[in-house]
Amino acid sequence: MFKLKAEDMGRSILGCGDGPASFNCEMNIQEKSVVSVDSIYDLDRETIRKRINETYVEVLGQTKANKDEFVWKNITSVEELGKIRMNSMNMFLDDFEEGKKQGRYVAAGLPELPLADKSFEMALVSHLLFLNSEQLSFDFNIQVIDELLRVAGEVRIFPLIDLNSRESIHLDEVIGHL
Ligand SMILES: C[S@@+](CC[C@H](N)C(=O)[O-])C[C@H]1O[C@@H](n2cnc3c(N)ncnc32)[C@H](O)[C@@H]1O
Repeated sequence: MFKLKAEDMGRSILGCGDGPASFNCEMNIQEKSVVSVDSIYDLDRETIRKRINETYVEVLGQTKANKDEFVWKNITSVEELGKIRMNSMNMFLDDFEEGKKQGRYVAAGLPELPLADKSFEMALVSHLLFLNSEQLSFDFNIQVIDELLRVAGEVRIFPLIDLNSRESIHLDEVIGHL
């Protein structure tokens, strides 16, 4: 998603809106530096687990209904995707409490981050901005990106399409603004 090269993995990385993903945990196992920020990190592990279990069936059902919108090359079925996602989320849940103590999971609500200027080399945002273009305004996108550029030297965002697989209505204006 982010075209990360081996040298990028050695940089200090901020993951924004990381949610219950395993990126932080997997990078930590490799002794790489990632801090994840998300508003759900305010919740305790069992509450997050409950929310994952509650939404899992619905999310998988939506994926099935929109199967043609996905590329089924590396992952060949909805069921396989479901298993991979659940494994990632379980990896996150196992790591969450310890990672929070270590400061690797930070509870914060965008567009404001409790982080110092240029405290990271790179910020990554997946499946939050642009994807939710109907829900998140142009102004919100700009506030978030400006904030990320304050705390990180480089910002990468994925994807640039919205939930209907169309280029985000904000993209050109955001690029123009930047
Ligand atoms: C669809 S999930 C993406 C999770 C992960 N980045 C991935 O790609 O698997 C979007 C995440 O953004 C978080 N989020 C939404 N609005 C936020 C905000 N204003 N501040 C911080 N996190 C937010 C949600 O809690 C959720 O975990």
